[in-house]
Amino acid sequence: MKIRKAVFPVAGFGTRMLPATKAIPKEMITLIDKPLIQYAVEEAVNSGIEQMIFITGRTKKALEDHFDINVELGLELEKSGKLELLEDMRRISEMVDVTYVRQKKMLGLGNAILCARDIVRDEPFAVILPDDIILSEKPVTAQLIDEYAKVKKPVVSLMRVKPEDSYKYGIVEVKETVDDRFYRLGSMVEKPRENPPSDLAIIGRYIITPEVMDALENVTPGAGGEIQLTDALKHVAKYNDVYGYGFTGKRFDCGTKAGLLEATVNFAAANPELREELKSIVADLGF
Ligand code: G1P
Repeated sequence: MKIRKAVFPVAGFGTRMLPATKAIPKEMITLIDKPLIQYAVEEAVNSGIEQMIFITGRTKKALEDHFDINVELGLELEKSGKLELLEDMRRISEMVDVTYVRQKKMLGLGNAILCARDIVRDEPFAVILPDDIILSEKPVTAQLIDEYAKVKKPVVSLMRVKPEDSYKYGIVEVKETVDDRFYRLGSMVEKPRENPPSDLAIIGRYIITPEVMDALENVTPGAGGEIQLTDALKHVAKYNDVYGYGFTGKRFDCGTKAGLLEATVNFAAANPELREELKSIVADLGF
């Protein structure tokens, strides 16, 4: 079955980025000139996704407005002849079909995904965590969709991490190495404090199947007292296949200050309009 839908959990408080996130969702924080959520949505569009499902919390208004038509701004840009900008703004509002679902209680990532159940029904779908921004030639969601097409089982994106960083991630155990980037997974642990089962961490891109949703209905709170998607995947891996794919691309954790800074510098370096300016800014700092 084609992957047509993507779920974006956007309900978190973003406490690590306060005070920036006091009145706006953390997904509206800007990387160069676009909010994080727009990078995530563009990745989905470029991966063939047709319907975006935002799982929102208290501050969804800014997100809704961003993907809506702004009549006043449109008129103003037209009047002042800024037609290229006008076209850009139109492109954003025409880009997507968004459905909003409210997560009533902050019970964790697993619970957020489960909130999409009535909309995804029995289709497999992509999950995109907008905090994880990835620079890559081929969008990581498209990479996962291609792997999914081969096995028709859940697929998570994987990246190697240092053992001392394991506590930040879901860490997987490999049951079988299918090829140098594709693994059949065994157990997995959300944010292990010690003895991580490997150095392969789950990054915020997934292809989720209905049986993972069934498992989510039954998982009990895990790490941090939250319903964890990792725990549902671990449950499914006990009796069926779950796969992991070592994606190609460079990932940035834009949910932290250092990660957002790293992303900003890397995106500027990759941007022909900013690359030279970046060089002189860094040279001026005299590091
Ligand atoms: C979530 C997942 C975790 C994954 C991480 C990737 O954690 O629960 O398994 O490794 O995203 O960014 P979070 O960072 O939302 O706490």
